[in-house]
Amino acid sequence: MRFITVDSYEKLSTKAANIIAAQVISKPNSILGLATGSSPLGTYAKLVEYYKSGELDFSEATSVNLDEYVGLTGENDQSYRYFMNTNFFQHINIPIERTAVPNGCVADLKAEGERYDKHIQDLGGIDIQLLGIGFDGHIGFNEPDEVFIKETHEVDLDASTIEANARFFASEEEVPRKAITMGMGAIMNAKKVLLIANGKGKKDIIEKSFFGPITPKVPASILQLHPDLTVIYSEN
Ligand code: GLP
Repeated sequence: MRFITVDSYEKLSTKAANIIAAQVISKPNSILGLATGSSPLGTYAKLVEYYKSGELDFSEATSVNLDEYVGLTGENDQSYRYFMNTNFFQHINIPIERTAVPNGCVADLKAEGERYDKHIQDLGGIDIQLLGIGFDGHIGFNEPDEVFIKETHEVDLDASTIEANARFFASEEEVPRKAITMGMGAIMNAKKVLLIANGKGKKDIIEKSFFGPITPKVPASILQLHPDLTVIYSEN
């Protein structure tokens, strides 16, 4: 594991963007595993900047996102599909049909999970997976549990996650209670994993995740077993 500490969100975003840029430059048809949340916003903004200045080309890239709320369509401005389109995809030249986000609006979420895992498998797996981390240690929406779940699956969101994500919604009642998330299988199979976190509030969970015991009660702790993990943390 490479654990990098920086002293600003700007530096964190530049470093993370540079790692992703290096991946796309060295392998233009990379499979990029992407994340939502506030942490990656600066990284996406930097990558858009590199694209606009002609330094990066996403025309051969493919993406797979980690998760989606159950019941929100891509047109809903709180959905993760909408987030990705507006914060990243619309500003670069990745073909939109090669961007995937789990569909949280299907009746059979189990079948959707199987379809999503097959899609990732058919792509040959993920080259680099970008991750944020929840205050309870969740990655994607893999919440603390008794076990690590391998497949893409439906989850009941923890009360603390609902509370933390309420800031994006008009009220806490509007936050969906369920989501569909990539499981630990696809994440751990990614060739590289890049986790970013910022703010003093994440310090405790970062310590537990990367310097504590490996346990499904702290989902991100499984990443300690990944052979190519980079964590970038900024207290500010
Ligand atoms: C959300 C997402 C995660 C994200 C996490 C942290 O619930 N499902 O993928 O990493 O919360 O979000 P933030 O970066 O806004 O702190």
